[in-house]
Amino acid sequence: MSATLLDGKGLAARLREELRGEVETFTSQTGVTPHLVVVLVGEDPASQVYVRNKEKACVAAGVKSTLYRLSSETSQNELLDLIAKLNTDQDVHGILVQLPLPKQIEEQAVLDSVSPLKDVDAFHPENVGLLVQGRPRFLPCTPAGCMQLIAEVCPNTSGMHAVVLGRSEIVGKPMGLLLIQRGADATVTTCHSRTRNLQEITRQADILIAAIGKANFVTAEMVKPGAIVIDVGINRVDGKLVGDVDFTPVSQIASAITPVPGGVGPMTIANLLKNALTAARLQTF
Ligand code: GUN
Repeated sequence: MSATLLDGKGLAARLREELRGEVETFTSQTGVTPHLVVVLVGEDPASQVYVRNKEKACVAAGVKSTLYRLSSETSQNELLDLIAKLNTDQDVHGILVQLPLPKQIEEQAVLDSVSPLKDVDAFHPENVGLLVQGRPRFLPCTPAGCMQLIAEVCPNTSGMHAVVLGRSEIVGKPMGLLLIQRGADATVTTCHSRTRNLQEITRQADILIAAIGKANFVTAEMVKPGAIVIDVGINRVDGKLVGDVDFTPVSQIASAITPVPGGVGPMTIANLLKNALTAARLQTF
């Protein structure tokens, strides 16, 4: 391996520690403890692990966390009723509805129903709009984590060619927006399942971000020597977690690469805590 390993676990721990101090200051100045509510519908095993990790991180940072566990049979109206109640509860600052939701529930309707001031995921259309306009209220947690990891090895991305694989609302689209924001100033190409000549494009990437959800999809032939490779994928293969990047061969070619696990995942949680504090600030007068 010749690439620098981008240690998300370590960086996230430092960010969480910083945040713990900020939360402490905020709470001592205002008497308010930031409170995040996580809503988990159904029994998805991966979601259960994510939610547990989010709760642990909250407690360690001094953020109050409440988990609502709803059955997989929950109707859309029941979920919307709960969110409406949380929206008006002054003791609740952040609301996170863990995705995916069971199939009887329309995801977008639920995300649209969360108060934009409590939308710590930054999935509400108002927050997406603010991000598009370059004046974000909350930064989307996973893309923000990718930017922080890139900054570890490349503080100036101006004019670099970033290629984003994937066009999801959670990662691919907002990732491209953060990379073209003033200050980051990268040139962005977003690729997806209909992209032609994919390898030709990925080989031009100074920064390659894989967020497609296909195990080991990015092979060494797709990577330009010296590229920074950020792997957002979390795939289970034979009980083992692997990313979207074929790690061992790509790490011989890249200049820096994130591992899975221990790369982007922990950064998502650190940014969620940051957004919970931002939400509490926005709602504390
Ligand atoms: N499921 C997978 N990633 C996420 C995320 O970032 N937020 C939420 N709410 N659900 C997810």
